[in-house]
Amino acid sequence: MKKFPEGFLWGSAMSAPQTEGHGSKNGKSPSTWDYWFQTNPEKFNQNQGPENTSNMYETYADDCLRMKEIGLNSIRTSIAWTRLLPDGKTLNPEAVAFYRDYFQKMKDSGVEPIMNLFHFDMPMWLMEKGGWEVRESVEAFAFYAKTAFEQFGDIVTKWTTFNEPIVHVECGYLYGFHYPAVVDFKKAVQVGYNTLMAHVRAVEEFRKVLPNGEIGIILNISPAYSRSNSPEDERAKEASDLLNSNSFLDPAVHGKLPDALIQLVKENQLTPETQPEDKELMKKNTVDFIGLNYYQPRRVQAPENPAVPAIMPEDLYVPYDWPEKKINPYRGWEIYPEALYDVAMMMKENYNNIPWYVSENGMGVAEEERFMKEDGMIEDDYRIEFMQEHLDYLHKGIEEGSNCFGYHTWTFVDCWSWLNGYRNRYGFYRVDLENQFERTMKKSGLWYKELSKNNGY
Ligand code: BG6
Repeated sequence: MKKFPEGFLWGSAMSAPQTEGHGSKNGKSPSTWDYWFQTNPEKFNQNQGPENTSNMYETYADDCLRMKEIGLNSIRTSIAWTRLLPDGKTLNPEAVAFYRDYFQKMKDSGVEPIMNLFHFDMPMWLMEKGGWEVRESVEAFAFYAKTAFEQFGDIVTKWTTFNEPIVHVECGYLYGFHYPAVVDFKKAVQVGYNTLMAHVRAVEEFRKVLPNGEIGIILNISPAYSRSNSPEDERAKEASDLLNSNSFLDPAVHGKLPDALIQLVKENQLTPETQPEDKELMKKNTVDFIGLNYYQPRRVQAPENPAVPAIMPEDLYVPYDWPEKKINPYRGWEIYPEALYDVAMMMKENYNNIPWYVSENGMGVAEEERFMKEDGMIEDDYRIEFMQEHLDYLHKGIEEGSNCFGYHTWTFVDCWSWLNGYRNRYGFYRVDLENQFERTMKKSGLWYKELSKNNGY
C-alpha cells in the first residue's frame, strides 16, 4: 500500500466565478467575464455564460455535506472581488454574510478551506482604468486582500493570492482567449509584472493582519521538455520555463526575479516599468507555501526563423509534437504523470524544499454522460486511473524527500469553465444543467473517499 504523510490534505479545487452563480445578484458588480459574455456571447461554448455557474450561492450548505460525503478534508475556492467590494471600496454586507457562513460550514464538515483571492475575475470598473496594465491595480488588489483577511481571517487561516497568474497574462494579452484579448508581448510582460507586485503587496498586508496564518500562491506548472539536447532546443526549454514558471515561482519563494529572466526580457526589449521599492518589497514578502496546478507538460523546440527581438513567445520556443505522447482522448491534453515526480524534485532541490501541494490535477471529459450507467452514476474509471497514475509519481517524490502536503483535484462538482462553458467535465459530482443543477456522485467520488480514509491506496 502507498501511504502518504500524516495529515495529508485530500481535497479539491474550484473558484467563485465558476461555481457560485448569481453573477449579477446580491450586490455583485460585473467582472470582465460578465461584460465579455454580454458583449460577445458567441465566443462561449453553447452560449453558456458566467451568470448561472453551478449555483453554489444557493446550495453551499448541502455542498459542504457533499464534501464530507466523499472524504474531502480540504477545499480551495476563491472569493469574488466583485462580490465583496462591488465598487472596490465599499464592503457588501450580503457577501460577508454569505462567505462567512459558507466557510464556517466547510469547517463544520471537517474541511479546511484554503482561500484564494483572484481566479481570472477582474472587476470591470478596474479594467476600465487599465486593469493589470496599470500600477493602480496593484494597490486596489492590496486593499481587497487586506479587506478579505480582516473579514474572514478568524475562520480561514490558509490563503493564496492568485490562481495561475500566467494564464490571465497569456489568455488576455497574447492569445485573445480572455478579455481584453490584446495581442502584445510587451504589454503581457507588464501585466505579469504588475500581477506579481499585486501578489507581493497582498503578502505584505497578510503579515500585518494575520501574522499566524499562512499564505501562498497557486501556479500552473507545465515543465518544459525539449525535443533534443541541442543548444537551440535547450535554450527554447529554458525560455519557456523562465517565462511560464520561474517568473512567479522564484520571486514567491526566493524573493527575486531570476537574472536570466531579467536578461531575456531586456534582450527582447520587453522590460516592464517598475518602481524603486519593488525589489525590496519582493525580497521581504516571500510565501509560506506553494500550490502547483499540474495538467500536462510543454514539449518545446527552437523556432526555425525567429524574429529578433521576439515579437511573440513563439520567437523563443515553439511546441514540439512528441510522437510518444499519450493523449486524454476526451479533452486532447497530454497525460504525463511522470512530470509530477520531476516537479517534486524541482521543489526539493531548487526551492528550498518549501512546503507545497498539488493544487489542481484532473481529467476533463467532454460529453461525459456517455459513461452514465442505468442508476444515473457516471462510471469514470478513466479518472480514477488518471489520479492513481499521478499519485504514483507524487508518492515517489515524497518518498525521496519532497515536502508535499496535499493533493487537490480539479474539481469538486462539474463547473463552468470560461469560454469552454460546461464542455469539459472534471467533477466528483455530475451537475445536471437540465435539472436545476442537481448533483449526482460519480464513481470517482467513492474512490476518493476510500483514498482519503486510508491516507493512501
Ligand atoms: C485550470 C483552471 O487550469 O483548468 C480552471 O484553473 C479551469 O479555472 C481548468 O476550469 C479546466 O479547464 P478546461 O479548459 O479544460 O475547461
